[in-house]
Amino acid sequence: MRKVLIAANWKMYKTPAEAKAFIDAFLPLVKDHTRDEIALFPSVTSLATVIAAAKGSNVSVGCQNIHFAEEGAYTGETSANMLTAIGGTHTLVGHSERRQYFAETDEIVNKKLHTALKHGLVPIVCVGEVLAQREGGKTEEVLRTQTVGAFVGITPETAKTIVIAYEPVWAIGTGKTATPEMAVEAHKIIRAEVAKLLGQPAADKMRILYGGSVKPDNASSLLNEVEIDGALVGGASLKPDSFAGIVQY
Ligand code: PGA
Repeated sequence: MRKVLIAANWKMYKTPAEAKAFIDAFLPLVKDHTRDEIALFPSVTSLATVIAAAKGSNVSVGCQNIHFAEEGAYTGETSANMLTAIGGTHTLVGHSERRQYFAETDEIVNKKLHTALKHGLVPIVCVGEVLAQREGGKTEEVLRTQTVGAFVGITPETAKTIVIAYEPVWAIGTGKTATPEMAVEAHKIIRAEVAKLLGQPAADKMRILYGGSVKPDNASSLLNEVEIDGALVGGASLKPDSFAGIVQY
């Protein structure tokens, strides 16, 4: 019922030439793959190259971050309009590295989500607990708070394209993956919160991805869970054969 989305978050890796080499090798590997949606999130300087190279393919391209303002004196930032103007269709919102290193609060995440939707971008809103919160028994509270905070002012109608990514911060880039059971439990908490906010039909339709050390060899155990509607992949998305292996879980 929910189409699986496999997304690559390249973070601050790859020059445009490296990104182009990836695309040239990757597209032939997945060209007949219609079962799942595929999206790439390169850094800003590679966006135009990747969008041009992926044009007409089954691969979508988006930004790792947008600013919530339409335009303005925000040095170093990218607007939603700038992204759509070059053909970008997706954006990550509130990745834990943005929350951790760039002080993004739930309020900022919420504003960015509204801006993304206004511009017709497919947003992937990231939520997840840090290790101390998990160990302190606070996971459920954190997931509920982040979901409620992100969804202020969102209605069942405007929520249609929203994707959530559950990314336990302790599993990101650490090689420690949440077990399928842990991920399913977290996804259920998030979906229940979405149901409270938007009603059960909207919650049933919402895709919730898992992210955190997803690799070709653990992808199928996670993605075969009905509750897990896709993956947001960092490290293992940097090589074409590795990411294609995840797509073909
Ligand atoms: P990872 O990153 O796959 O390298 O753990 C995931 C992410 O940060 O989205």
